[in-house]
Amino acid sequence: MKKPVKVAITGAAGQIAYSLIFRIASGSMLGPDQPVILQLLEVPVPEVLEKLKGTVMEIDDCAFPLVHGVEIHSDPMAGFEGTDYALLVGARPRGPGMERKDLLTANGGIFGPQGKALAAKANKDVRVLVVGNPANTNALIAATAAARGGLDPKQFHAMVRLDHNRAVSQLATKTGAHNTEIEKMIVWGNHSSTQYPDLSHCTVRGKPAKSLVDQAWIEKEFIPTVQQRGAAIIKARGLSSAASAASAAVDHMRDWVLGTNGKWVSMGVPSDGSYGIKPGVVYGYPCICKNGQYEIVQGLSIDAFSRARMDATDTELREERAAIEDLLKA
Ligand code: NAD
Ligand code: LMR
Repeated sequence: MKKPVKVAITGAAGQIAYSLIFRIASGSMLGPDQPVILQLLEVPVPEVLEKLKGTVMEIDDCAFPLVHGVEIHSDPMAGFEGTDYALLVGARPRGPGMERKDLLTANGGIFGPQGKALAAKANKDVRVLVVGNPANTNALIAATAAARGGLDPKQFHAMVRLDHNRAVSQLATKTGAHNTEIEKMIVWGNHSSTQYPDLSHCTVRGKPAKSLVDQAWIEKEFIPTVQQRGAAIIKARGLSSAASAASAAVDHMRDWVLGTNGKWVSMGVPSDGSYGIKPGVVYGYPCICKNGQYEIVQGLSIDAFSRARMDATDTELREERAAIEDLLKA
């Protein structure tokens, strides 16, 4: 049996965590042979911590073979001690009629102190996935604070995997294929309504996706449905997506750590100039992961239709950045 690793989850009493914790505890994220110690972080509010104690009672009641410890914390300096993997979920969700960037004021301030605490206390190889919205800019805030403490910004990702999975599912339904028969899906840019789900390189059962669907469907149905899926779920459920968000977080971290076997996945990672997206934002790119490292897929042709959409989502990310520039210096 491997040595236990420490997995920190913020927002541990919230709705995503209620699904995520149990998936991690059962081995879906790091594999069936990887024991875990769960570091559950919440705000220092007695009612919230009491609720979290109830979740811990349920973790105990599952008698998970892989769980070697469960900790409750309300201080990130204590909660991130020795952390190997961190899932930063804790943040306010949006309600009907809001855009995710409307949450910047409420949530941005959470991620600087968490980045700083991760740099001070976590394992130096820690991998961090930011789920709390607006995820890309929150990841930028956390990565910037952590870089001052010696971590590499590449250790901080934002989650666009839910968008990627939504895009795969929409295309599978449209073409009558199974999800597993869709490859080379890409979601570029921001986890927001400007994201660009791109079928240019995508294949279905090895055939180009664009030979199976028409351009009108791509423009009028596929792209808007994926872009607006979060809002559609809020409208239907009265709450934002939770189980599907947890599942995407498990997919993202599993692929980052255990590898993608050459398959492409969409990950929000620090822009490095690839595809004309200048450094300074956390941008959704097609990635391949191997030996615990990710690489942006290089050399793809970008047509004018894609270029315009990739630039529009980049522009939005830079506007978000400008709105929180003070938090990057704090
Ligand atoms: P929720 O309100 O059910 O839970 C959030 C929890 O975070 C609360 O229990 C709250 O007390 C806690 N929290 C707040 N600040 C914290 C802090 N500083 N430290 C630790 N915990 C803190 O919300 P939810 O539905 O679980 O969603 C959480 C976030 O994830 C929201 O911002 C939501 O918009 C976002 N989200 C992102 C994606 C994505 O694809 N990236 C998908 C779904 C939801
Ligand atoms: C989602 O995409 O479901 C989440 O980001 C929640 C939201 O606000 O849409």
